[in-house]
Order: sequence, then structure tokens, then C-alpha cells
Amino acid sequence: MKLKKLAIYGAGGLGRELAWMVKDIIEHGGKWEVIGFFDDGKEKDSFIDELPVLGGLNEINASPAPLNLVIAISDPPTKEKLVRDIVNTNIEFPVLIHPACLAGDKKNNRFGRGTVLTAGVILTTRIQMGEFVLINLASTIGHDVNIGKFSSVMPGCSISGAVTLGERCLVGTGARILQNIIIGEDSKVGAGAVVTRNFGSGSTLIGVPAVKTTSHVEGV
Ligand SMILES: CC(C)(COP(=O)(O)OP(=O)(O)OC[C@H]1O[C@@H](n2cnc3c(N)ncnc32)[C@H](O)[C@@H]1OP(=O)(O)O)[C@@H](O)C(=O)NCCC(=O)NCCS
Repeated sequence: MKLKKLAIYGAGGLGRELAWMVKDIIEHGGKWEVIGFFDDGKEKDSFIDELPVLGGLNEINASPAPLNLVIAISDPPTKEKLVRDIVNTNIEFPVLIHPACLAGDKKNNRFGRGTVLTAGVILTTRIQMGEFVLINLASTIGHDVNIGKFSSVMPGCSISGAVTLGERCLVGTGARILQNIIIGEDSKVGAGAVVTRNFGSGSTLIGVPAVKTTSHVEGV
């Protein structure tokens, strides 16, 4: 049986976690062969967790054969930039779902390319995710939720029914978003925040109940 080659773009902590996740997927019958990491900040031909660093963006764009790539970057704008810089049509971005994720209603949930659902994540029904969304460990996503492309939900979050998150949102670890809330694109929900009302684009929210802070965040 033919295995499909898969590499991880980003060899930091999340990259190593996603390498472990793909190993688990393979142990549960996934038809992948993990060939290594790409990361412009790491030395080419070095090894991380026994996987080689194959280069960076140039090597991705030079890949002569079909290659599946997982983006292991949680900061939404950085993730979007990295994806936009990949121009090689040999590169594909699979949806990856850990075997210990309950991905919910197969008929009515929709995931864009590059979606990553990690261990312990639970989804219910009529959930839509744009491309390159990351839902990290043990987060729950309720019915009729829409999550915009490039958004990242960090571990242990609860996103209640009918919530809409715009593109490139970051939801910090342990945050809760109550039902029917709309949060505009490029927003950040701080770790542990409880969002109880709608907020517009570019909001950074902290606290219980969450309020807007004026500080700016460059990454997580
Ligand atoms: C909310 C957040 C986006 C703000 O980041 P920031 O703008 O860089 O904020 P700063 O670190 O400069 O902190 C600004 C102030 O807000 C406070 N603050 C930061 N995050 C907070 C949070 N989640 N809840 C309450 N207060 C918070 C800081 O203590 C600081 O207070 P001070 O001015 O009284 O000292 C960020 O702190 C956060 O929570 N990110 C999510 C991180 C995460 O979940 N990582 C998961 C890794 S797996």
C-alpha cells in the first residue's frame, strides 16, 4: 500500500507535538510517511526528535514531487504569511484529525484544507472551519460554530453554540466564548477570558467578563 509523504512546516514545540500526533494517526491506520520538518530558523540536515530538518521555504517551493504539508504555527498572521509564500503546486495541505478527537457530525461539519484537530478535541454538529484552522488539545466546539480561516484555538477552550469567529483569530488557552457571540477578524481572546458579548475586528480581550485591552500582541 502506497504511503503519502508528509512534512511539518515549523519545528518548534507545536511542530514536535504535531509530529507525535501524526505518529498516532499512523498507528491507527493513517497512510502517511513523515519525512521531516521544514523550518527556516533551524539548521538544515540537523535532526529534531529523530526527524530531519529538510530546509525552509525555498526547499518547500522546490519540491519536485507531491508533498503533504502540515503548518505547525499557531500565530494566525504568521501562519497566513507562511502559507501565502508557498507557491509550489506540488504541495497539498491535508485535514489532520487525531484518533482521540471526536470530530462530530461527518455529514454536516465542514473543514477547510489544512485544518488540524488535535487530541481530546470535541465537536458536535453544523460546524464550519475555514482553511488552516488549528483546534488544540481538549477544546470543545458546539453546534453551528463558524471559525474563520487561519484562526487558532489553544488548549482547553470552550466555544459555545452558534459562535462566529472571524479570520485570523487567536483564542487563548482555557478561554470560554458564550453562545451566539460574534468576534471580528484579527482578534485575540486572552487565556482564561470569558467572552459574554460581541466584539469587532482587531479586539484583544481579557478577563471575566472579557473586556478590550489596548495592548498589542505580536504572537503568543
Ligand atoms: C491576552 C493576550 C493576547 C495579551 O497579550 P499582550 O498584549 O502581549 O499582553 P501583555 O503580556 O503585554 O499584558 C498586558 C497586560 O494584560 C495582562 N494580561 C495578559 N494576558 C492576560 C490574560 N489572558 N488575562 C488577564 N490579564 C492578562 C498582563 O498581566 C498585563 O497586565 P499589566 O499591564 O497590569 O502588567 C495574551 O496575554 C494571551 O492571553 N495570549 C494567549 C496565550 C496562549 O493561550 N497561549 C497558549 C500556548 S499553547
